[in-house]
Amino acid sequence: MIEEEKTDNNSTSAGQEFEPKIVAFVCNWCTYAGADLAGTSRLQYAPNVRIIKLPCTGAIDPSFLIKALEKGADGILVSGCHPGDCHYAEGNYHARRRWTVFTGMLEFCGIDMERVKFSWVSAAEGKKWVSLINEITDKIKELGPFEDYKKLG
Ligand code: FES
Repeated sequence: MIEEEKTDNNSTSAGQEFEPKIVAFVCNWCTYAGADLAGTSRLQYAPNVRIIKLPCTGAIDPSFLIKALEKGADGILVSGCHPGDCHYAEGNYHARRRWTVFTGMLEFCGIDMERVKFSWVSAAEGKKWVSLINEITDKIKELGPFEDYKKLG
C-alpha cells in the first residue's frame, strides 16, 4: 500500500481528493441482499465500501472491526436484519448487545465513534443501503483519514 502525505482532511499531497476506505460487515440474508438489490437496480452509490459478508451479525466478532481499522479502514459499518427478522432468530439481538459493550471499549481506546456505524438494512431496502453508504462516505471524508490506530501502537 502506498502511503501519501496528507495535507488536510480532504486531499493528499498529490492533490487528489481523499477517498475513504469503508469496510462493511453485513449479514448474508438481509443487508447483503439489500446491497445486491441496489446493484441489480442499478442504483449509484459511493464506490468506497468493501463488503465482508457473514452469515449473521451475531457472527461478527468485535476483533474483526479492530483488525479492519488496523489494516487501514477509515470507517466501519455493521449492518444486518432488522430486529425480529434475523434468520437465526436472535443473532442481531446478540450483536446489538455486544455492540453496546464494544462501542464503550472503542471510545475508551480513543477511537472516534463517528467512524463506526451500526444499522439495519433489509433485503428490500436497496435505496436505504445507497443512502447509508453515501452518508457514511461523506462523513468519513469530512473526518479525514483514520490515523489514530497508529497513535495507539
Ligand atoms: Fe441477518 Fe442474523 S441473519 S442479522
